[in-house]
Amino acid sequence: MTVRCKKLGGGTTEVPVVGQGTMGMGGYLSAEAENDRRFIDALRSGIDLGMTFIDTAEGYGGGHCEELVGRALRGVRDKVFIATKVSPENLSEQSLVRAAEKSLKRLQTDHIDLYQIHWPNPAIPICETMNALERLVAEGKVINIGVSNFSLREIRKAVGALSSTSMAAVQVEYNLFDRSIEKDILPFCEKEGLTTIAYSPLDQGRAGGAGDEAGELESIAAKYGKTKAQITLNWLVSHPSVIAIPKATTRRHIRENAEAADFELSDEDFSRIALLFACEPVAIPVDRIRVSREGEGNRRVYQTVSDAVENALKFVPSPVELAQSLTEGDFLKPVRLIPTTDPSGRYHYDLIEGRVRYWAWVIAHNGKASIPALIRPGK
Ligand SMILES: NC(=O)c1ccc[n+]([C@@H]2O[C@H](COP(=O)([O-])OP(=O)(O)OC[C@H]3O[C@@H](n4cnc5c(N)ncnc54)[C@H](OP(=O)(O)O)[C@@H]3O)[C@@H](O)[C@H]2O)c1
Repeated sequence: MTVRCKKLGGGTTEVPVVGQGTMGMGGYLSAEAENDRRFIDALRSGIDLGMTFIDTAEGYGGGHCEELVGRALRGVRDKVFIATKVSPENLSEQSLVRAAEKSLKRLQTDHIDLYQIHWPNPAIPICETMNALERLVAEGKVINIGVSNFSLREIRKAVGALSSTSMAAVQVEYNLFDRSIEKDILPFCEKEGLTTIAYSPLDQGRAGGAGDEAGELESIAAKYGKTKAQITLNWLVSHPSVIAIPKATTRRHIRENAEAADFELSDEDFSRIALLFACEPVAIPVDRIRVSREGEGNRRVYQTVSDAVENALKFVPSPVELAQSLTEGDFLKPVRLIPTTDPSGRYHYDLIEGRVRYWAWVIAHNGKASIPALIRPGK
């Protein structure tokens, strides 16, 4: 079986429009080995179904995820396009080269098809990082270069810092709930011929919404004999530069995703979906937001602005560095909130995603400006 392809970054390499994400396979923040066989089998069956683009990162499961990808690729490496990512703490020339060597080893390969900067790090000059990446390209260890979670201004700077290669891809969150990239990054990629890699395309398993729009999406799906997830993926990759990398571990999901691009949505349904899911960010006063909940994968979060400034958890970039970037115009995306049940009435929302971005915003605006947020319906 094959999956429809697009050319990567306007070049000649073809990649399937639906690939495979891997975040959480082999652990989130540290390695977990108990489901290794299941994840390797999942990736292998996705490859057999034509989803031969695999996205991973050195940061996933403390490197264990890359090891699983390496094991899943035994005997089929040549058929697969490997995209991995270097973490923001490894963006100096020396660290980046060392990180790439370690990734190559874990992936059991001699080249990375797409090497992406996972998150920007304002403490390291972008020229230094891009030079190091170009050196890896010259040595044949990296074939294509990409960035992830960069603002448009940061993407432009990174593109401008390349001298012997061009940027192939930009990886960003893009799903029916968060369509922030449509304002600037997506038009830029389409104009400049960069591939837009949509991460969390199924909104981490929530694809299709929860309100009236869910019913409408269901009826569109029924018309095509497809599922809501398939319609969602198809809608995303209907944008000329977009490919999507859903993560699936369930056999049925893997097959569904592989068959998500084998039909065409009518123009009318494409526009209908765009209207149904036109969720705009709202500005919420920062002191109405409670940040005490721990995030997914036991991510830790600061409770006070002074803790955030001190950055004892050593987030890279730190909230202060990110605040500086914000004041220079690098706004990436809204934070995520859910309505809270706080009995004191002080807080109206819980922060569920964007724990460093929240504090960066508070620091950048001295706690005085409302923060752009996307609000999920409460339970
Ligand atoms: N660059 C970055 O900073 C960044 C950030 C986040 C993610 N990513 C990349 O993007 C990939 C995908 O994002 P994600 O893992 O956050 O979320 P996602 O792909 O939007 O959602 C994954 C969830 O959707 C479920 N699912 C998969 N296919 C489905 C289908 N056909 N129908 C219904 N549910 C389905 C999966 O369940 P099962 O597992 O049970 O099948 C899983 O719970 C990641 O794995 C990672 O490679 C990159």
